[in-house]
Amino acid sequence: MKILVTGGLGFIGSHTVVELQNVGYDVVIIDDLSNASEKVLDGITAITGKKPLFEKLNLRERNKVEDFFHRHNDIEGVIHFAASKAVGESVENPLLYYENNLSSLVYLLKELVKKKGASFIFSSSCTVYGQADAMPITENAPVKNAESPYGNTKQIGEEIISDTCKAHEELQAIALRYFNPVGAHESAEIGELPIGIPQNLVPFITQTAIGLRDQLSVFGDDYPTPDGTCIRDYIHVVDLAKAHVIALQRLLNKKNKQRYEVFNLGTGRGSSVLEVIKSFEHVSGEKLNYKITGRRPGDVISAYADTVKANEELGWKAELDLDEAMLSAWKWEQKIRS
Ligand code: UD1
Repeated sequence: MKILVTGGLGFIGSHTVVELQNVGYDVVIIDDLSNASEKVLDGITAITGKKPLFEKLNLRERNKVEDFFHRHNDIEGVIHFAASKAVGESVENPLLYYENNLSSLVYLLKELVKKKGASFIFSSSCTVYGQADAMPITENAPVKNAESPYGNTKQIGEEIISDTCKAHEELQAIALRYFNPVGAHESAEIGELPIGIPQNLVPFITQTAIGLRDQLSVFGDDYPTPDGTCIRDYIHVVDLAKAHVIALQRLLNKKNKQRYEVFNLGTGRGSSVLEVIKSFEHVSGEKLNYKITGRRPGDVISAYADTVKANEELGWKAELDLDEAMLSAWKWEQKIRS
Protein backbone atom coordinates (compact mmCIF):
# COMPACT_ATOMS: atom_id res chain seq x y z
CA MET A 1 0.00 0.00 0.00
CA LYS A 2 1.43 3.35 -1.03
CA ILE A 3 1.57 6.23 1.44
CA LEU A 4 2.63 9.80 0.66
CA VAL A 5 4.67 11.57 3.32
CA THR A 6 5.10 15.29 2.63
CA GLY A 7 8.08 16.83 4.41
CA GLY A 8 9.33 13.26 4.75
CA LEU A 9 12.98 14.30 4.96
CA GLY A 10 12.40 16.54 7.98
CA PHE A 11 12.81 15.67 11.65
CA ILE A 12 9.47 14.04 12.44
CA GLY A 13 8.79 13.08 8.82
CA SER A 14 11.94 10.99 8.42
CA HIS A 15 11.28 9.06 11.65
CA THR A 16 7.73 8.41 10.47
CA VAL A 17 8.93 7.11 7.09
CA VAL A 18 11.12 4.61 8.99
CA GLU A 19 8.18 3.36 11.06
CA LEU A 20 5.93 3.11 7.98
CA GLN A 21 8.53 1.09 6.11
CA ASN A 22 9.15 -1.09 9.18
CA VAL A 23 5.56 -2.30 9.03
CA GLY A 24 5.60 -2.80 5.27
CA TYR A 25 4.13 0.31 3.64
CA ASP A 26 5.54 1.64 0.38
CA VAL A 27 6.45 5.26 0.96
CA VAL A 28 6.80 8.12 -1.44
CA ILE A 29 8.28 11.29 -0.03
CA ILE A 30 7.70 14.82 -1.24
CA ASP A 31 10.04 17.47 0.15
CA ASP A 32 11.17 20.81 -1.26
CA LEU A 33 14.51 20.52 0.61
CA SER A 34 14.02 24.05 2.01
CA ASN A 35 14.82 22.77 5.51
CA ALA A 36 16.09 19.24 4.91
CA SER A 37 18.84 17.39 3.06
CA GLU A 38 18.52 14.65 0.48
CA LYS A 39 21.16 12.76 2.52
CA VAL A 40 18.41 11.89 5.01
CA LEU A 41 17.33 9.29 2.43
CA ASP A 42 20.57 7.41 3.12
CA GLY A 43 19.85 7.37 6.86
CA ILE A 44 16.35 6.01 6.27
CA THR A 45 17.73 3.38 3.88
CA ALA A 46 20.44 2.35 6.37
CA ILE A 47 17.82 1.70 9.07
CA THR A 48 15.11 0.01 7.02
CA GLY A 49 17.09 -1.57 4.17
CA LYS A 50 14.74 0.09 1.71
CA LYS A 51 15.07 3.39 -0.12
CA PRO A 52 11.77 5.25 -0.27
CA LEU A 53 10.71 6.98 -3.48
CA PHE A 54 11.52 10.68 -3.35
CA GLU A 55 10.38 13.66 -5.39
CA LYS A 56 11.65 17.18 -4.85
CA LEU A 57 8.50 19.21 -5.18
CA ASN A 58 7.11 22.44 -3.84
CA LEU A 59 3.50 21.91 -2.77
CA ARG A 60 2.68 25.56 -3.47
CA GLU A 61 2.87 24.75 -7.18
CA ARG A 62 -0.64 23.51 -7.78
CA ASN A 63 0.02 22.08 -11.27
CA LYS A 64 2.88 20.01 -9.96
CA VAL A 65 0.75 18.64 -7.12
CA GLU A 66 -1.96 17.72 -9.61
CA ASP A 67 0.56 16.08 -11.88
CA PHE A 68 2.07 14.17 -8.95
CA PHE A 69 -1.31 12.65 -8.04
CA HIS A 70 -1.93 11.71 -11.68
CA ARG A 71 1.32 9.81 -11.74
CA HIS A 72 0.75 8.25 -8.31
CA ASN A 73 -2.95 7.47 -8.48
CA ASP A 74 -2.48 4.48 -6.14
CA ILE A 75 -1.72 6.57 -3.04
CA GLU A 76 -4.07 5.49 -0.25
CA GLY A 77 -2.99 7.71 2.59
CA VAL A 78 -1.20 11.02 3.12
CA ILE A 79 0.76 12.15 6.17
CA HIS A 80 1.33 15.89 5.79
CA PHE A 81 4.34 17.34 7.59
CA ALA A 82 5.59 19.81 4.98
CA ALA A 83 5.38 23.27 6.55
CA SER A 84 7.49 26.14 7.80
CA LYS A 85 7.86 25.98 11.57
CA ALA A 86 9.98 28.79 12.97
CA VAL A 87 7.86 30.87 15.33
CA GLY A 88 10.05 34.02 15.20
CA GLU A 89 10.35 33.96 11.42
CA SER A 90 6.58 33.67 11.13
CA VAL A 91 6.17 36.88 13.14
CA GLU A 92 8.55 38.69 10.79
CA ASN A 93 7.17 37.21 7.59
CA PRO A 94 3.55 36.17 8.17
CA LEU A 95 2.62 36.03 4.49
CA LEU A 96 5.34 33.50 3.81
CA TYR A 97 3.80 31.30 6.53
CA TYR A 98 0.21 31.72 5.40
CA GLU A 99 1.15 31.07 1.79
CA ASN A 100 3.45 28.16 2.47
CA ASN A 101 1.52 26.30 5.16
CA LEU A 102 -2.01 26.91 3.90
CA SER A 103 -1.83 26.84 0.11
CA SER A 104 0.06 23.53 0.21
CA LEU A 105 -2.64 22.08 2.47
CA VAL A 106 -5.45 23.29 0.19
CA TYR A 107 -3.80 21.89 -2.94
CA LEU A 108 -3.26 18.50 -1.31
CA LEU A 109 -6.87 18.33 -0.11
CA LYS A 110 -8.13 19.32 -3.57
CA GLU A 111 -6.45 16.22 -4.96
CA LEU A 112 -7.57 13.98 -2.11
CA VAL A 113 -11.27 14.78 -2.38
CA LYS A 114 -11.10 13.52 -5.97
CA LYS A 115 -10.19 10.07 -4.66
CA LYS A 116 -12.39 7.48 -3.03
CA GLY A 117 -11.80 6.99 0.68
CA ALA A 118 -8.78 9.22 1.13
CA SER A 119 -7.04 9.17 4.53
CA PHE A 120 -5.20 12.24 5.74
CA ILE A 121 -3.02 12.78 8.82
CA PHE A 122 -2.18 16.39 9.73
CA SER A 123 0.77 17.58 11.74
CA SER A 124 -0.67 19.97 14.32
CA SER A 125 0.69 21.32 17.59
CA CYS A 126 -0.16 21.88 21.24
CA THR A 127 0.51 25.52 20.41
CA VAL A 128 -3.22 25.69 19.48
CA TYR A 129 -4.03 25.61 23.23
CA GLY A 130 -1.82 28.59 24.14
CA GLN A 131 -1.55 28.81 27.94
CA ALA A 132 -4.30 26.36 28.83
CA ASP A 133 -6.31 27.04 31.98
CA ALA A 134 -5.92 23.52 33.36
CA MET A 135 -3.24 20.81 33.30
CA PRO A 136 -3.02 18.23 31.89
CA ILE A 137 -4.43 19.54 28.60
CA THR A 138 -7.27 17.53 27.11
CA GLU A 139 -8.44 17.71 23.50
CA ASN A 140 -11.49 19.60 24.75
CA ALA A 141 -9.45 22.50 26.10
CA PRO A 142 -10.36 25.65 24.18
CA VAL A 143 -8.24 26.67 21.23
CA LYS A 144 -6.85 30.09 22.19
CA ASN A 145 -5.90 33.01 19.98
CA ALA A 146 -2.66 32.02 18.31
CA GLU A 147 0.51 33.67 19.63
CA SER A 148 2.15 33.67 16.20
CA PRO A 149 1.32 33.34 12.51
CA TYR A 150 2.95 29.88 12.68
CA GLY A 151 0.51 28.84 15.42
CA ASN A 152 -2.33 30.39 13.49
CA THR A 153 -1.51 28.28 10.41
CA LYS A 154 -1.96 25.18 12.57
CA GLN A 155 -5.33 26.41 13.87
CA ILE A 156 -6.55 27.45 10.42
CA GLY A 157 -5.17 24.24 8.96
CA GLU A 158 -7.28 22.21 11.39
CA GLU A 159 -10.36 24.25 10.43
CA ILE A 160 -9.73 23.78 6.72
CA ILE A 161 -9.52 20.02 7.20
CA SER A 162 -12.59 19.87 9.44
CA ASP A 163 -14.66 21.90 6.96
CA THR A 164 -13.46 19.78 4.04
CA CYS A 165 -14.37 16.55 5.84
CA LYS A 166 -17.87 17.95 6.45
CA ALA A 167 -18.34 18.78 2.78
CA HIS A 168 -16.65 15.76 1.18
CA GLU A 169 -17.45 12.37 2.55
CA GLU A 170 -14.60 10.77 0.62
CA LEU A 171 -12.20 12.40 3.06
CA GLN A 172 -11.38 11.26 6.57
CA ALA A 173 -8.68 12.92 8.62
CA ILE A 174 -6.89 13.01 11.95
CA ALA A 175 -5.05 16.04 13.34
CA LEU A 176 -2.26 15.13 15.75
CA ARG A 177 -1.38 17.83 18.26
CA TYR A 178 2.23 17.25 19.26
CA PHE A 179 3.71 18.46 22.49
CA ASN A 180 7.54 18.89 22.35
CA PRO A 181 9.19 16.37 20.01
CA VAL A 182 12.82 15.56 20.95
CA GLY A 183 15.43 12.83 20.54
CA ALA A 184 16.57 10.86 17.51
CA HIS A 185 16.51 7.34 16.13
CA GLU A 186 18.55 5.01 18.38
CA SER A 187 20.76 4.07 15.41
CA ALA A 188 21.86 7.74 15.15
CA GLU A 189 21.25 7.46 11.38
CA ILE A 190 18.58 10.19 11.46
CA GLY A 191 17.75 13.03 13.86
CA GLU A 192 17.07 16.74 14.08
CA LEU A 193 19.12 19.03 11.79
CA PRO A 194 18.41 22.63 12.78
CA ILE A 195 19.67 25.22 10.31
CA GLY A 196 21.61 28.02 12.02
CA ILE A 197 21.20 28.73 15.72
CA PRO A 198 18.66 26.32 17.22
CA GLN A 199 15.56 27.91 18.72
CA ASN A 200 14.46 24.76 20.54
CA LEU A 201 15.85 23.62 23.87
CA VAL A 202 17.22 20.16 23.15
CA PRO A 203 19.31 20.90 20.04
CA PHE A 204 20.64 23.97 21.85
CA ILE A 205 21.70 21.76 24.77
CA THR A 206 23.47 19.19 22.59
CA GLN A 207 25.17 21.86 20.47
CA THR A 208 26.42 23.58 23.63
CA ALA A 209 27.75 20.32 25.03
CA ILE A 210 29.59 19.51 21.78
CA GLY A 211 31.17 22.98 21.77
CA LEU A 212 29.25 24.66 18.93
CA ARG A 213 27.61 27.13 21.34
CA ASP A 214 29.24 28.72 24.37
CA GLN A 215 26.37 28.62 26.77
CA LEU A 216 22.71 27.73 27.03
CA SER A 217 20.42 30.50 28.27
CA VAL A 218 17.64 29.23 30.50
CA PHE A 219 14.81 31.61 29.75
CA GLY A 220 13.55 32.60 33.18
CA ASP A 221 13.51 30.92 36.60
CA ASP A 222 10.81 33.07 38.16
CA TYR A 223 7.79 31.25 36.76
CA PRO A 224 5.18 29.85 39.16
CA THR A 225 6.51 26.28 38.84
CA PRO A 226 8.36 24.10 41.42
CA ASP A 227 11.87 25.16 40.28
CA GLY A 228 10.81 28.41 38.58
CA THR A 229 11.52 27.23 34.99
CA CYS A 230 8.89 26.46 32.33
CA ILE A 231 7.32 23.05 32.06
CA ARG A 232 6.82 21.11 28.81
CA ASP A 233 5.91 17.59 27.76
CA TYR A 234 8.95 16.26 25.89
CA ILE A 235 8.04 13.33 23.68
CA HIS A 236 10.52 11.02 21.97
CA VAL A 237 10.30 11.44 18.20
CA VAL A 238 10.23 7.65 17.67
CA ASP A 239 7.12 7.37 19.87
CA LEU A 240 5.62 10.24 17.91
CA ALA A 241 6.43 8.56 14.58
CA LYS A 242 4.74 5.34 15.72
CA ALA A 243 1.61 7.32 16.61
CA HIS A 244 1.36 8.45 12.98
CA VAL A 245 1.36 4.87 11.75
CA ILE A 246 -1.34 3.93 14.26
CA ALA A 247 -3.45 6.97 13.33
CA LEU A 248 -3.14 6.14 9.63
CA GLN A 249 -4.13 2.51 10.24
CA ARG A 250 -7.14 3.71 12.24
CA LEU A 251 -8.37 5.50 9.11
CA LEU A 252 -7.39 2.81 6.61
CA ASN A 253 -9.15 0.15 8.73
CA LYS A 254 -12.19 2.39 9.26
CA LYS A 255 -11.81 2.32 13.04
CA ASN A 256 -12.38 6.08 13.35
CA LYS A 257 -15.49 7.32 15.14
CA GLN A 258 -15.76 10.52 13.14
CA ARG A 259 -14.44 11.58 9.79
CA TYR A 260 -12.35 14.27 11.47
CA GLU A 261 -10.68 13.51 14.78
CA VAL A 262 -8.06 15.18 16.98
CA PHE A 263 -5.57 13.59 19.35
CA ASN A 264 -2.92 14.99 21.69
CA LEU A 265 0.44 13.31 21.46
CA GLY A 266 2.52 13.67 24.58
CA THR A 267 3.85 11.59 27.45
CA GLY A 268 1.53 13.15 30.04
CA ARG A 269 4.57 14.10 32.10
CA GLY A 270 5.71 17.69 32.48
CA SER A 271 9.44 18.41 32.82
CA SER A 272 11.03 21.72 33.70
CA VAL A 273 13.94 23.20 31.75
CA LEU A 274 16.26 22.41 34.68
CA GLU A 275 15.03 18.80 34.74
CA VAL A 276 15.82 18.47 31.03
CA ILE A 277 19.33 19.78 31.68
CA LYS A 278 19.73 17.36 34.59
CA SER A 279 18.59 14.45 32.43
CA PHE A 280 21.07 15.43 29.72
CA GLU A 281 23.95 15.68 32.22
CA HIS A 282 22.99 12.32 33.72
CA VAL A 283 22.89 10.33 30.47
CA SER A 284 25.84 12.06 28.77
CA GLY A 285 28.17 12.43 31.72
CA GLU A 286 28.84 15.98 30.46
CA LYS A 287 28.55 19.15 32.52
CA LEU A 288 26.43 21.68 30.66
CA ASN A 289 27.40 25.34 30.65
CA TYR A 290 24.20 27.29 31.24
CA LYS A 291 23.01 30.48 32.87
CA ILE A 292 19.63 31.79 33.89
CA THR A 293 18.55 34.76 31.78
CA GLY A 294 15.32 36.70 31.30
CA ARG A 295 12.06 35.21 30.11
CA ARG A 296 11.53 34.64 26.36
CA PRO A 297 8.53 36.63 25.12
CA GLY A 298 5.61 34.41 24.14
CA ASP A 299 6.57 31.40 26.29
CA VAL A 300 3.73 29.70 28.12
CA ILE A 301 4.42 28.69 31.72
CA SER A 302 3.37 25.10 31.45
CA ALA A 303 1.99 22.65 28.88
CA TYR A 304 1.63 18.89 29.21
CA ALA A 305 -0.79 16.48 27.66
CA ASP A 306 -3.72 14.56 28.97
CA THR A 307 -3.04 11.25 27.22
CA VAL A 308 -6.28 9.39 28.02
CA LYS A 309 -7.85 9.87 24.57
CA ALA A 310 -4.68 8.84 22.71
CA ASN A 311 -4.13 5.87 25.03
CA GLU A 312 -7.68 4.56 25.04
CA GLU A 313 -9.18 5.65 21.75
CA LEU A 314 -6.13 5.62 19.47
CA GLY A 315 -4.47 2.74 21.30
CA TRP A 316 -1.11 4.48 21.46
CA LYS A 317 1.11 5.28 24.44
CA ALA A 318 4.55 6.88 24.67
CA GLU A 319 7.04 4.19 25.69
CA LEU A 320 10.34 6.05 25.86
CA ASP A 321 11.28 8.44 28.65
CA LEU A 322 13.18 11.73 28.84
CA ASP A 323 16.53 10.05 29.61
CA GLU A 324 16.21 7.85 26.53
CA ALA A 325 15.30 10.87 24.41
CA MET A 326 18.26 12.90 25.70
CA LEU A 327 20.69 10.02 25.20
CA SER A 328 19.54 9.50 21.60
CA ALA A 329 19.77 13.25 20.91
CA TRP A 330 23.31 13.26 22.30
CA LYS A 331 24.38 10.21 20.26
CA TRP A 332 23.02 11.93 17.15
CA GLU A 333 24.83 15.21 17.89
CA GLN A 334 28.11 13.32 18.39
CA LYS A 335 27.61 11.35 15.18
CA ILE A 336 26.97 14.39 12.96
CA ARG A 337 29.95 16.33 14.36
CA SER A 338 32.40 13.41 14.15
C1 UD1 B 1 8.22 25.86 20.38
C2 UD1 B 1 7.18 26.74 19.76
C3 UD1 B 1 5.97 25.90 19.40
C4 UD1 B 1 6.38 24.81 18.46
C5 UD1 B 1 7.49 23.98 19.09
C6 UD1 B 1 8.03 23.02 18.07
C7 UD1 B 1 7.53 28.95 20.74
C8 UD1 B 1 6.98 29.99 21.64
N1 UD1 B 1 6.84 27.81 20.67
O1 UD1 B 1 7.70 25.31 21.59
O2 UD1 B 1 5.00 26.71 18.79
O3 UD1 B 1 5.28 23.99 18.17
O4 UD1 B 1 8.57 24.82 19.49
O5 UD1 B 1 9.05 22.26 18.64
O6 UD1 B 1 8.54 29.13 20.12
N2 UD1 B 1 14.32 27.23 26.39
C9 UD1 B 1 15.39 27.76 27.07
N3 UD1 B 1 16.53 28.08 26.37
C10 UD1 B 1 16.62 27.89 25.02
C11 UD1 B 1 15.53 27.34 24.32
C12 UD1 B 1 14.39 27.04 25.04
O7 UD1 B 1 15.35 27.95 28.29
O8 UD1 B 1 17.68 28.22 24.44
C13 UD1 B 1 13.10 26.87 27.13
C14 UD1 B 1 11.87 27.63 26.69
O9 UD1 B 1 11.72 28.81 27.41
C15 UD1 B 1 10.78 26.62 26.99
C16 UD1 B 1 11.46 25.25 26.80
O10 UD1 B 1 12.85 25.52 26.88
O11 UD1 B 1 10.39 26.71 28.32
C17 UD1 B 1 11.13 24.61 25.48
O12 UD1 B 1 11.38 25.53 24.46
P1 UD1 B 1 11.32 25.14 22.91
O13 UD1 B 1 12.14 23.92 22.68
O14 UD1 B 1 11.64 26.36 22.12
O15 UD1 B 1 9.81 24.69 22.68
P2 UD1 B 1 8.43 25.50 22.95
O16 UD1 B 1 8.68 26.92 23.18
O17 UD1 B 1 7.69 24.76 23.98
